[in-house]
Amino acid sequence: MSVHKEFKKITTHSLMEMKQRGEKISMLTSYDYSLAKIVDAAGIDAILVGDSASNVMAGHETTLPITLDQMIYHASSVVRGVDRALVVVDLPFGSYQGNSKEALNSAIRIMKESGAHAIKMEGGEEILESVKRILTAGVPVMGHLGLTPQSIYKFGTYTVRATEDEEADKLISDSKKLEEAGCFAIVLEKIPAHLATKVAANLQIPVIGIGAGNGVDGQVLVLHDMLGINNQFNPRFLRRYLNLYEDIKGAVENYISDVKNTDFPSDKESY
Ligand code: KIV
Repeated sequence: MSVHKEFKKITTHSLMEMKQRGEKISMLTSYDYSLAKIVDAAGIDAILVGDSASNVMAGHETTLPITLDQMIYHASSVVRGVDRALVVVDLPFGSYQGNSKEALNSAIRIMKESGAHAIKMEGGEEILESVKRILTAGVPVMGHLGLTPQSIYKFGTYTVRATEDEEADKLISDSKKLEEAGCFAIVLEKIPAHLATKVAANLQIPVIGIGAGNGVDGQVLVLHDMLGINNQFNPRFLRRYLNLYEDIKGAVENYISDVKNTDFPSDKESY
């Protein structure tokens, strides 16, 4: 199916309508103005200002170090580049797990200071009170279940989640609770495709997968991974559309050589 340009601006309701019509939802991360502008111009439905900025932009090993102020900086840069897509921002680790008041304050800061349209939070039952309080304030919430990288030190590894019945049953029950609480969509990360398909079929709200197979309502990838800027990360679920690491490196090597050879700038490039 071709890119859907019927909606002037994508809202949480547009995503729900897309699920009802059986149109798949496209989502990518962005963290800065320039790339967000290109991603939006291409017709993406939703942009996630993910806390993966901690890895991709800042070089941290995990998503834990990124702060609320840093997320607001990334989100406001993205919002300035976007005309059409729905912009969803991760609440970073430590900004919502304490209590529901802290969670609400963090969500309000993101909405007020960045101009984004929604927030995303990792977890199920254990964060339900905070999800409800944020929703009561009128802030749309996207859930995130399965592999939740903010809990990496609890899991111990980034391997596929919910392969055992007990964890799969909890994930199904958490997804229902998030929907009942009023979340407008849920991200499922790195879980078996058959389980993700079952969750998507069980829910009215859209389910967006990353490493969750093709039976869900949409897909999300980290932009820098799918563009091949980061060539060290090779999970099975990742499809690379470019090899920008090699392309950018080659361009920089050519520039260095042109400077060293006094080939750049030429007379035409001088005043
Ligand atoms: O932070 C992020 O990029 C994410 C996606 C992997 C869903 O949460």
